[in-house]
Amino acid sequence: MNSAEPVPASEAVQAPLLQVRDLSVQFPARRGGEPLKAVDRVSFDIAPGETLGLVGQSGSGKTTTGRAILQLQKAQRGSVRLLGEDLTTMSSSRLRAMRRHMQFVLQNPYSSLHPRMTIGQILTEPLQVHRSVPPARMRERVAELLELVNLDPAMTQRYPHEFSGGQRQRVVIARALAVNPDFVVCDEPVSALDVRTQAQIVDLLRSLQDRLGLSYLFIAHDLAIVREVAHKVAVMFQGRIVEMGSAAQVYDTPAHPYTRMLLDAVPVPDPKLQRERLRLIAPEPHFVEGGDGICRHGENHAQTGTAEWHEVAPGHGISCRFWPAD
Ligand SMILES: Nc1ncnc2c1ncn2[C@@H]1O[C@H](COP(=O)(O)OP(=O)(O)OP(=O)(O)O)[C@@H](O)[C@H]1O
Ligand SMILES: [Mg+2]
Repeated sequence: MNSAEPVPASEAVQAPLLQVRDLSVQFPARRGGEPLKAVDRVSFDIAPGETLGLVGQSGSGKTTTGRAILQLQKAQRGSVRLLGEDLTTMSSSRLRAMRRHMQFVLQNPYSSLHPRMTIGQILTEPLQVHRSVPPARMRERVAELLELVNLDPAMTQRYPHEFSGGQRQRVVIARALAVNPDFVVCDEPVSALDVRTQAQIVDLLRSLQDRLGLSYLFIAHDLAIVREVAHKVAVMFQGRIVEMGSAAQVYDTPAHPYTRMLLDAVPVPDPKLQRERLRLIAPEPHFVEGGDGICRHGENHAQTGTAEWHEVAPGHGISCRFWPAD
């Protein structure tokens, strides 16, 4: 569809905010071998005001998925439609304009804030880049943003090192919200924080979603946190989504053995230890593709596209490639 044509209101209301189809990212092989399929034919929708939780072991492709959606990483294949427009094919000037609608909140509040910029400067920058607020209103908008994340608006002259980890993450969130985005990728937004601060930041993200109607892609190792925030959950394994459904479906009636294994892994309070543990869990042999690629549903997994997706309940599906062959 020509993006200059207005979308009929009825369609605009029903359309998902974000529509990802067949997204694939490959990295060149280190030494000769096969290229790494970091993201392999990933498809999902996120509605306005909805959170999709993306979980999976370290290296499964979660961050690369987020980066490819935001066009910070080139995808070899697939489409990413935000507000009805395909980000993968638009001009760079249109993409610059669309960046206002999508933002990134990263894990580490220590490295994502410039140490020699004041909080005021940090929050003013995106407003200037996107010219979203007239210069005369900048101060007011910065104060508003600080209040939005429950920080004292008098803090604009302070530097990041004067803040606690949780406060810094609030600044990172305020910076992401400065341009009034519709969609935010939160990549491990609380994993660098202590448990009490984690709960506060999770509460903040939820209340901001309610107030501003934000949509989130919420990436995290910690399944307990994802359960608290996500409406839908996608489980990633070796670049593919192996199970997706409502949070209740995936957590209460997991259909894929890999999801069950992740849920069975008792969380360890120390996030570093937890990461190590998840790294060490070797998938069972039948998770690894092999044989003739034909599952008991008679689908040939050598085919591309969504043919191998098997619905176990309305809105709840798994990738048959890993469906037990018994
Ligand atoms: N720029 C890159 N060049 C080459 N390989 C990369 C690059 N970025 C990521 N990878 C590889 O792609 C795969 C997916 O990485 P990604 O960072 O997306 O995983 P992740 O699920 O976010 O992991 P974690 O939970 O540890 O953050 C990994 O094997 C990683 O080594
Ligand atoms: Mg990651």
